[in-house]
Amino acid sequence: MRDGLLPGLDRLAGGDPASAPEFYTRVAGVYDALARHGPFVGRLRRALADTLAPERGATVVEFGCGTGANRPYLTERVGPAGTYVGVDFAPGVLRVARERGRPRSTPGRESSAPADGSRSST
Ligand SMILES: C[S@@+](CC[C@H](N)C(=O)[O-])C[C@H]1O[C@@H](n2cnc3c(N)ncnc32)[C@H](O)[C@@H]1O
Repeated sequence: MRDGLLPGLDRLAGGDPASAPEFYTRVAGVYDALARHGPFVGRLRRALADTLAPERGATVVEFGCGTGANRPYLTERVGPAGTYVGVDFAPGVLRVARERGRPRSTPGRESSAPADGSRSST
């Protein structure tokens, strides 16, 4: 059985963490709208990037990246020489993330990968 990164939300998937990828795939469109345009989310995401403060040129890996709502804030911090890698086990959210990635918000390198962040081999 897979452990979700956010047990509260994963419980919405029906109580079974194994179904979380299907759940997030199903709600990817709605989740993306909330993740980008919900009240205060822009300010919170910027505060998160400011707190993490990755250096310019750094590689940032976001496990459980969802639809990539943090990506613009993180790619802005690492700059064009940096790299953003989003990892998520739900194919539906990665599809939206890739669509949202075009055109890229910065000329830096970006990629997204399907993987379970709770497995040590990831
Ligand atoms: C609440 S969303 C947050 C998405 C994004 N970080 C954001 O701030 O909008 C949680 C995401 O984590 C992913 N996730 C949960 N457990 C995971 C795991 N073990 N491995 C990979 N992705 C996982 C889910 O598929 C979902 O897209």
